Amino acid sequence: MLWLILGVSVLIIILIAVFLFYRYIYVPWFQIPALPEIHETWWGAGEENKEDVSIMPFKIHFSEEVIEDLTDRLQRTRTPTRPLQGIQQQYGFNTDTLKTILEYWATKYDWKARENHLNQFPHFRTSIQGLNIHFLHVKPKVPEQTPVIPLLILHGWPGSVVEFYKLIPILTKVHERYGYAFEVIAPSLPGFGFSDGAVKPGLGTCEIALLMKKLMLRIGHETFFVQGGDWGSIIVTAMATMYPEAVLGLHTNMPDVSTPRTFLKILIGSLWPRFVIDEGNEEKLYPLSTFSTHVWNESAYLHMQATKPDTISVGLNDSPAGLAAYILEKFSTGTNKDYREWEDAGLLKKYTYDELIDNLMFYWVPQCFATAARIYAEGLSSRQFALGVNKIPISKTVPCAVAVFPNEIIYYPDWILRDKYAHLVHRANLNNGGHFAAMEVPAKLAEDMFRAMEKMRRLKAKK
Ligand SMILES: *[C@@H]1O[C@H](CO)[C@@H](O)[C@H](O)[C@H]1NC(C)=O
Repeated sequence: MLWLILGVSVLIIILIAVFLFYRYIYVPWFQIPALPEIHETWWGAGEENKEDVSIMPFKIHFSEEVIEDLTDRLQRTRTPTRPLQGIQQQYGFNTDTLKTILEYWATKYDWKARENHLNQFPHFRTSIQGLNIHFLHVKPKVPEQTPVIPLLILHGWPGSVVEFYKLIPILTKVHERYGYAFEVIAPSLPGFGFSDGAVKPGLGTCEIALLMKKLMLRIGHETFFVQGGDWGSIIVTAMATMYPEAVLGLHTNMPDVSTPRTFLKILIGSLWPRFVIDEGNEEKLYPLSTFSTHVWNESAYLHMQATKPDTISVGLNDSPAGLAAYILEKFSTGTNKDYREWEDAGLLKKYTYDELIDNLMFYWVPQCFATAARIYAEGLSSRQFALGVNKIPISKTVPCAVAVFPNEIIYYPDWILRDKYAHLVHRANLNNGGHFAAMEVPAKLAEDMFRAMEKMRRLKAKK
């Protein structure tokens, strides 16, 4: 009798344990959720559902008033506090270097010439779900019969379409070896540059993914390739997850892999790095304490923008000096974290002041700092994670490619990449370049895109 009671009790305890594990660990963490339905929310002001579907040509215009006001503010900048002795960028952007850049912006940045430079590609705007979306649309000039591949390419924060100005001419030229070219559609993300920001909460990455799909459809492409870095990568990854029938192939230079399985693997790797990461690359992720300290050291902006974006934006929308320091610090460290030890932030090694300031103009002129910064609050909200799109592997019908630049913030081996990019057909380890690859090493990125897309085209031809 005693044995029976004991036996039944043990059985009940085991059943309860199994239930608790299933209910509180397995279901919330490891079960792959269903694809969410993203609603066609009206994000703009103005009358709901009065959509004007026309596509209007658009030109970048820096008005005299804006330039006069900007120059005045630049020249009246209060002298920033000098950096500490022997310090370059370790306490934040070096203010001696900043002074040089502000002077350049006020006196040498030829805004008329830059306006022309920025207008070298055709710009357009069209209204989707109440938001005017700005985009570059560059069609290659090719002989008939030459294959042309429609490509949506998305930037991130604190970038803009300015990042793509050296990349576009390469992509839109017929590749000597592969014999095809891209038709490039490069939008400003909603809230960035000359695209409107939402007037109500909730425009996160999955909602932007829907807007971007509708943009491509509006332009006339039901199917297309996608490419992205930074937030752009997170959005194109969400597009490939939610709309596999529209995405012919994906290329990213900052893979977004954040499935529960991935976290488990990374955790296991902290005990046994070689089990997770290929030889020679262990120090890119381990020891986890060093990696997380680095992330912690560099990501205060992310926490701020994910929680109180509007507060920081007041100052940065009012002061070009503040805006330049905040954004250029990211371009320096994102390109190479060793540049923290360079007094000039290493900015001129890969970029010109003109192109860096062009990018600042995309925040200053449309006064979009706040609406752009809010992508962190919306993209990292619990509501966004509850959609569960990060947990869903991309359908095997969508071939994916990853370009790994050595100075990118995060590094994943292939078996982790496949947690999300289930049909990984191409991965390249490039020998130089960082987070802003499109702007820093455009020829390398373009070549890798051509190579990857060629593999995808061949796969498709075989079927
Ligand atoms: C993080 O910052 C602290 C304080 O500046 C510094 O001592 C430390 O070396 C940094 N760690 C990493 C991994 O970057």
